[in-house]
Amino acid sequence: MTGIEFNRRIEEIPIYPAASTYAFDGELVKLASNETPYPPHPQVLEAVEAQLRTLNRYPDPEKSLLRRSISDRTGVPPERVAVGNGSCEILLAAADAMLEPGAEVVYAWPAFSMYPQLAAMSGATAITVALNDAGEHDLEAMAAQVTAATRLVIVCNPNNPTATALPPAAIDAWVAELPRHVAVVIDEAYVEFSTLQDPDDSLDLLERHPNLVLLRTFSKVYGLCGLRAGYALCPEPFRLAVDRVRQPFSVNALAQAAAVEALNHQDEVERRVEQNVIERVHVESELAERGLETTESQANFSWVSLGDRDEDEIVDGLARQGVIVRAGVALGERGRLRVTYGTRSENDRFLAALDTLL
Ligand SMILES: Cc1ncc(COP(=O)(O)O)c(C=O)c1O
Repeated sequence: MTGIEFNRRIEEIPIYPAASTYAFDGELVKLASNETPYPPHPQVLEAVEAQLRTLNRYPDPEKSLLRRSISDRTGVPPERVAVGNGSCEILLAAADAMLEPGAEVVYAWPAFSMYPQLAAMSGATAITVALNDAGEHDLEAMAAQVTAATRLVIVCNPNNPTATALPPAAIDAWVAELPRHVAVVIDEAYVEFSTLQDPDDSLDLLERHPNLVLLRTFSKVYGLCGLRAGYALCPEPFRLAVDRVRQPFSVNALAQAAAVEALNHQDEVERRVEQNVIERVHVESELAERGLETTESQANFSWVSLGDRDEDEIVDGLARQGVIVRAGVALGERGRLRVTYGTRSENDRFLAALDTLL
């Protein structure tokens, strides 16, 4: 015991569960964190290398070039673009800026494992709403939970971990019915992978709803999770608030440079999205042949129902063979696993390892 006293809220904050790994003598297949299996574009690497020579300088606290580049890509003015050290940082900053004891945050469950942290760290109350049987958000049930105390409503679309998505038209009609004092965050970390919409479709919603925030990331389809860069397309007061509660230099210079360059390679984004669809169809159909049901994936991963099989046995058995996936229990539901799509050979290693356990 050190005798040091900590804020009592610390105990409420869930600890991020590391994916299970075993000492494995060979190449691991990492399918637990919804990463892209493809390395960064060569020109992105060049941009990072060029930036290395300026590391004696602080990064641009305004993130001006990156905000302008995102603005050019999306048509949303730079004043309405907030950039973070991953989109997680923006979520945490939003909690800091908006939540407090007595305030409420509404989200569906299971959803992204970071959401419970928002209430826990701020002392606000988390109101969770069950997904429907298809693993989709029940928007009506969520709206019914909005009260005068609600500050934040989060919709993960496509949802992690269930991979399901709602079309922008459904979100549009729903947001219109919510009171304006509530900030509605649509977490679109996986939006590029959805076949229900073009990623640009939801941008129109920003015009119609002054309380809407679209949260996006360079971690998934852009493949830069190791550098940490994400952004919000948001009302200007939201950007000013999340900037105010963070240190000015949270987005490092390499991340800013890489993200700017990555935006120049939309052809690469399209190629990855196409490859993802091919791998999704492959993995889903192979799982179906094994009698394993999945929800309808609009992302780069599947949410697999294991029926009455022992989830721990399967997840640990895969890890022993060097294949790392996420256990459903770590994500809010037993009897499931979440597996990210890798390259074809990685996916086939997953399937072959699974065969030894069924
Ligand atoms: C739904 C969702 N939102 C946000 C993130 C966080 O992404 P970032 O790396 O931008 O912090 C993730 C990462 O897994 C995610 O699944």
